[in-house]
Amino acid sequence: MSADSTELDPADWDPRDLAFRADPIPWYRVLREQAPVYSHPDIGVVLSRYEDIDRVLRDRRFGVATPSPWAEIMEAEAPPSMYLLSENSLLFVDPPQHTRVRGLVAQAFNPRRIEELRPRIEASIAKVLDTLEGRSGFDVLEEIAWPIPIIGVTELLDVPATDQALLHAWTHAITAVDELPLDFDVMPAAGVAADEFLAYAGDLVDERKRNPGDDLISALIAAEEDGERLTRDELLCMIVLILLAGHDTTASLISTALWLLLDHPEAATEVRSDPHSVANAIEEVLRYLGPLQVASGGGRWPNEPVTIEGTVIEPGTPVRLLLGSANRDPDQYEDPDRFDIHRSPIRHLAFGRGLHVCLGAALGRLEAQIVVPAVLQRFPDLALVDDAPTWRPSFVVRQLATLPVSTGRS
Ligand code: HEM
Repeated sequence: MSADSTELDPADWDPRDLAFRADPIPWYRVLREQAPVYSHPDIGVVLSRYEDIDRVLRDRRFGVATPSPWAEIMEAEAPPSMYLLSENSLLFVDPPQHTRVRGLVAQAFNPRRIEELRPRIEASIAKVLDTLEGRSGFDVLEEIAWPIPIIGVTELLDVPATDQALLHAWTHAITAVDELPLDFDVMPAAGVAADEFLAYAGDLVDERKRNPGDDLISALIAAEEDGERLTRDELLCMIVLILLAGHDTTASLISTALWLLLDHPEAATEVRSDPHSVANAIEEVLRYLGPLQVASGGGRWPNEPVTIEGTVIEPGTPVRLLLGSANRDPDQYEDPDRFDIHRSPIRHLAFGRGLHVCLGAALGRLEAQIVVPAVLQRFPDLALVDDAPTWRPSFVVRQLATLPVSTGRS
């Protein structure tokens, strides 16, 4: 994270560049300082300052639905199931559809339901850690970060634990399309996964209609406001979106948190011994290296000309919001490149803000706040094996590729 940005020229910035993807922080600095409204030929206008991003996220002149002619290109090039997902998912629809769907979903996906999951998530985490007891080392991603979010969501939806591998594979195939610039080569595999995933969600809905339970799917089916309900497409896409949106992101948060804490042993000691310190520590991880570096894959679209930092952004231009850069903006945070679990206030943008602010933030936080101290307490001698971690070569998702650790046990 320490490369020098004084030599970098914004004109050379390339979101495909693997060196940028390995360490985006110096480039974020250069964009914020020299080109805060940067027009990139392949991905649109890129914003990097906290204040601008915060404003756009709350500005009703920007929508998320893809306007013509981009929508037609998407319809022609994307498999029908992927197009269906993009047309019906909360993340890609504007008011009034967004208001209606989010209102109905929020009835079912409420804080009480998330808090009720706590004992079940704690028990599942304890079981996962039991399987690691005798090991001298393990990969945090493989053994903890991937399984835990899947367990959380399968508990929420009440789907069989035996389906976890299937859900994991579908999620990976579909989220591959969220990369920027968009890569149409990954679309066919994503389409196959989306077909299967939507059919799976359809079977679940039919089954819950016959036998309603105390799970999120049954609650989504029952949700009603002013005589309105979710359409079948909205319901299926919501089930799929909950899995897609909550999986990679939470896995990333858990693994990055453990890496940062093990890399800052005094912070790890504090989290291990003082359960109250974990909540702020997780917020600092979200700020310092949040899972989503860029807001919604579809971008924000102005529906009238909007001026930002003296530049007019015209309708039909996709606007990309660098959440990861906003969270390192020195105008917002003192010494932003320092990882400090006592930082206060934090007010990061890792969950977005405004209409589309993350619906699952409470669940992501709950899982991370339970699993991180549980791992540190279970393995008091846990240590990093590699000095420099390897990150997945992604622009949008900040996620370790592997995180090998030793337990100090033989
Ligand atoms: C640490 C984990 C997570 C992070 C960092 C995260 C991040 C985000 C961000 C940044 C957005 C807004 C995107 C935008 O405005 O363009 C978002 C939206 C969303 N997230 Fe999360 N998320 C996490 C976990 C979850 C979980 C666990 C779920 C569900 C179980 C979830 C479901 C959603 C949904 C449904 C939306 C769309 C909301 C809307 O458009 O109204 N997320 N998330």
